[in-house]
Amino acid sequence: MEPAGYEISKRKATRTLIKAISRTRDETIALGEKLARRMKKGVVVALIGDLGAGKTVLVKGIAKGLGVTDTRYVNSPSFVIVKEHRGRIPLYHFDIYRLEGPASLETIGYDEYFYGNGVTIIEWADKIKGLLPKRHIEVRFSIRDDGSREIKIKGL
Ligand SMILES: Nc1ncnc2c1ncn2[C@@H]1O[C@H](COP(=O)(O)OP(=O)(O)OP(=O)(O)O)[C@@H](O)[C@H]1O
Ligand SMILES: [Mg+2]
Repeated sequence: MEPAGYEISKRKATRTLIKAISRTRDETIALGEKLARRMKKGVVVALIGDLGAGKTVLVKGIAKGLGVTDTRYVNSPSFVIVKEHRGRIPLYHFDIYRLEGPASLETIGYDEYFYGNGVTIIEWADKIKGLLPKRHIEVRFSIRDDGSREIKIKGL
C-alpha cells in the first residue's frame, strides 16, 4: 500500500496547469473569454503579476465571457476595492493594490463575495493569500523580454 502522502502529490500533479503566451492585449481578452466558459458561480480567481502585466485586461475578457455587456466599466477603480458587474453570472472585481492589510478586507465583508453566487476575481491576490478559499484558480503573469506576457493558470 502506498503512503497517504503519495496520493496527495499524485492528485496535485494531475491538477490542470495551463501555460499561455499572449502577444497582444486582444489575445489576453480572448484568453479571458475562453477561461470564463469554464467558470461557475462560487469560483475565486487570484491574479498575481507586476504593474501593467495585464491583470485588468484579463478581467475584461473574463467579464465578456460571463456576459457582461459593457466591459468599458471593467477597470481598476481608484477609490473602491470591489466593483460588481452584472452578467450571466455576477462578477466581483477586487483590486487590492492599495489595501493596507487583510483586516480592511474583513471590514467590507469579503467573504460574502468569495463564498457568494458570482465569480470573484482579485488583482494583487498575493497580498491576501491567507484569506483565499482553499480551492481557487491562480493566474500568474510575467512580462517577457519581447513584451509578450506569459500567463500560467492553476486549478481551473
Ligand atoms: N499581451 C498583452 N496582454 C495584456 N496587456 C497587454 C499585452 N501587451 C501589451 N499590453 C498592455 O499592457 C497594459 C496592461 O494593463 P493592465 O491594466 O491590464 O495591467 P494590470 O496588471 O492590471 O496593472 P495594475 O497592477 O496597474 O492594475 C495595457 O496597457 C495593455 O494594452
Ligand atoms: Mg489592474
